[in-house]
Amino acid sequence: PLYKIMFGLSELEERIRKYYGLKQVVIVAGDSENSLHSKRELGRAGCAVLRKVMGKDDVVAVTGGSTIAQVANQLTSQTPLKGNWFVPARGGLGESLDYQANTIASTMAKRTGAQYRMLHVPDHLGEEAYTSLMQEPNVREIVEVIRKARIVIHGIGDAMVMARRRRVDATVIEAMKAEGALAESFGYYFDRKGAVVHKMLTAGLRLEDIMETEVVIAIAGGQDKAEAIAAVMRFGHDDVLVTDEAAAMELAAIM
Ligand code: BG6
Repeated sequence: PLYKIMFGLSELEERIRKYYGLKQVVIVAGDSENSLHSKRELGRAGCAVLRKVMGKDDVVAVTGGSTIAQVANQLTSQTPLKGNWFVPARGGLGESLDYQANTIASTMAKRTGAQYRMLHVPDHLGEEAYTSLMQEPNVREIVEVIRKARIVIHGIGDAMVMARRRRVDATVIEAMKAEGALAESFGYYFDRKGAVVHKMLTAGLRLEDIMETEVVIAIAGGQDKAEAIAAVMRFGHDDVLVTDEAAAMELAAIM
């Protein structure tokens, strides 16, 4: 409330943009955690950002999650985006079908007349199974496409919320907690400073790929996600943050 009185949303966007060294910050009204309307707005704002940066022959890597699903459900294009590809950023992370990156990538492609590829990697792979899967020509081929993505659009979650949602082992959760895991994004868990404290074993984008990606767009809202958003912003490889008023005010308070 204090920040609401002191600054309008556009001033808040500018303060957060500057503080984290981002190219663009978009804040939608409300609290997407408690309002479906606001969550849809978050998705809609995400669509606008994505459409603006997409060119003719881009590969767009997407994560899963309920927020990015809101982008997928509202994405449109007047002319078919034939030369563009939507791909999942990473393989199985233990999400329910509607929120899986594969589902979201295919929805985005179908809605815009673009192409898509799926990455079928089961969740909770052992080291050995992972290594042999990565030798499969089909898997390698799609992973190569994913790593060429010019644009990444991803959600951000609270580390403990995501770990539980993905049924991560209790012992692993305890270990992550001890290491200060605060945020989760694309299967990586980050501490307050934005350092990686844990990663899920699956194929697709590696952190070093994300560091090299031309346009990285984060979409996340809700007051409870503010610390997680801050942690991922400190990791420091996002270009655009799309968030809501509730998260933005909390972000400003902890800046
Ligand atoms: C996951 C993404 O699927 O969704 C993560 O891989 C993100 O990057 C998470 O943390 C956020 O989910 P939601 O439902 O809160 O948008």
